[in-house]
Amino acid sequence: MFALTNKVAIVTGASSGIGRATAKLFAEAGAKVVVAARRQAELDALVAEIEEADGTAIALAGDVRDEAYANALVDLAVDRFGGLDIAFNNAGSVGQMGPVPDMSLKMWHETIDINLTGAFIGAKYQVPALLERGGGSLIFTSSFVGRTAGMPGMAAYAAAKAGLIGLTQVLAAEYGAQGLRVNALLPGGTDTPGATTTTPEARAFVEGLHALKRMAQPDEIARSALYLASDASSFTTGTALFADGGVSINRT
Ligand SMILES: NC(=O)c1ccc[n+]([C@@H]2O[C@H](COP(=O)([O-])OP(=O)(O)OC[C@H]3O[C@@H](n4cnc5c(N)ncnc54)[C@H](OP(=O)(O)O)[C@@H]3O)[C@@H](O)[C@H]2O)c1
Repeated sequence: MFALTNKVAIVTGASSGIGRATAKLFAEAGAKVVVAARRQAELDALVAEIEEADGTAIALAGDVRDEAYANALVDLAVDRFGGLDIAFNNAGSVGQMGPVPDMSLKMWHETIDINLTGAFIGAKYQVPALLERGGGSLIFTSSFVGRTAGMPGMAAYAAAKAGLIGLTQVLAAEYGAQGLRVNALLPGGTDTPGATTTTPEARAFVEGLHALKRMAQPDEIARSALYLASDASSFTTGTALFADGGVSINRT
């Protein structure tokens, strides 16, 4: 039920953290994976790791804000692997943090572009290819930030992550009849290079926000992505699925 045998997946943000763990897990589950991010060397190392474990992957480096790159990722999936069944639009970055009056329009746009517009561009090219194979699973990495928590200093990031949930809902409604499921995945604090926990104090603070009193390992979020990608979630669409260690409900 969790198998991805003969499926083809695109994973963005695969050079690090949650995306890297998910690309490996998808390949382990049987998918042929197109891995995407800007850093070529990290992607090449990931492909080598997947191949060493008898999996199949191919890398294409680029920026998710670039429409030609989104198009090229889909073309690669179709040309090399015969089509597209799963797309995990996961690339993201917290961006510059600070109070709204201090936030430049340039930084606002940059954070929105990477986290929200990049995912929209990805979907724009992925949807026709997914429909060509009778549907499939489209997933966006959102966050509890922007859904259940107002975190000071994170206005642009929160707006982008909230926007992804709106995008998810509309796409789910637009394409459900054609067999395409669309879901947002909302991780809690996760131990990746992209996390904002750069000091022991910051880490202890973030851990304490969660009911489980710890951060997630990237593998734990990858398993939720596998659930959404696979037939295990066959009646799940249009959701904002929390894998957040209880950070959304915790008050202690
Ligand atoms: N860690 C957390 O606590 C947490 C919590 C909730 C949600 N999230 C979300 O989870 C997702 C993955 O984050 P992570 O924690 O795994 O962080 P990470 O380790 O920093 O990974 C971020 C990934 O996104 C890629 N990326 C960033 N900007 C890009 C761009 N313009 N074009 C292409 N790729 C780009 C990075 O690759 P390159 O640098 O090689 O381009 C990297 O592979 C993000 O959307 C993040 O917002 C994270």
